[in-house]
Amino acid sequence: MAALKGRHLLSVADLNVQELTDLLAFAAQLKSGETSWTCRKILGLLFTKASTRTRVSFTVAMYQLGGQVIDLNPSVTQVSRGEPVTDTARVLGRYLDILAVRTFKQSELEDYAKYSGIPVINALTDLEHPCQILADLLTIQECFGSCAGKTLSYFGDGNNVAHSLLLGCAMMGMNVRVAVPSEPYEPDPEIVAKAKEFAGDKAEITVTYDSKAAAEGTDVLYTDVWASMGQEMEARERIPLFKPYQVNQELLSLAHSDAIVLHCLPAHRGEEITGEVMEGAQSRLWDQAENRMHAQKALLASILGKD
Ligand code: CP
Ligand code: NVA
Repeated sequence: MAALKGRHLLSVADLNVQELTDLLAFAAQLKSGETSWTCRKILGLLFTKASTRTRVSFTVAMYQLGGQVIDLNPSVTQVSRGEPVTDTARVLGRYLDILAVRTFKQSELEDYAKYSGIPVINALTDLEHPCQILADLLTIQECFGSCAGKTLSYFGDGNNVAHSLLLGCAMMGMNVRVAVPSEPYEPDPEIVAKAKEFAGDKAEITVTYDSKAAAEGTDVLYTDVWASMGQEMEARERIPLFKPYQVNQELLSLAHSDAIVLHCLPAHRGEEITGEVMEGAQSRLWDQAENRMHAQKALLASILGKD
């Protein structure tokens, strides 16, 4: 994966189809234990939002590659006391080999990339969650043999996860149906347009208000929280609006009989997904969570290159 050496991953769209395909193949290879690739590099994790999976999977992936990790929790750095990104980024770039940033604004992530002088990975912003989608595509590939030609239906908020799914699935030749309540919960029109461009005439990208139509004959049902980090104040008012988009047994019964259910986690049982579906035979949530580590290990190894 020499093509990714020294590069940033700020958006799924930073990869081309070949790079994404190769990255997924490399992740599968690492997962099967075929490659013993090691590095002695140092990864910084600068997360201004909570995280379990991303934090731990990046840390374990880096340790397994022979590298080290520094947790740059803003509350124990000068970030919480207002040191500007332009300064923090330039200083971190002098110490670290690579930086993963979880924050609110995409523009702040872009500033870390611009000023640090080292590769920066998007570990989630309000706009995108590319690392999540690498794991999702790896899981879909494992379940169905390949992604191309399959249909993924996303139910809920047109958020960061929906955006990265739109881009990543479209690149892999998957049909994507996004079922959301009306404005302001629809995905960003620019991302939808980009996904349509990636899909070309190979796949269909649809945004709909009709959750049943989106579930009909689909291969993958995917959902995420109705109120993302930073939107906690809106959580109560969103519940009645989002209720028709809950992934439950009724919705699942409309899908292909071998359809799978995915959720990036953390989940709110009884809101965006029922406990019955989460724990049911078609759920692949735990494989999906495990795949975060394999996909990110491939990403880190590709960006860092060999020692
Ligand atoms: N899916 C995901 O990114 O989980 P965390 O917020 O726990 O990292
Ligand atoms: N959309 C969610 C994803 C959490 C992994 C959020 O941004 O909070």
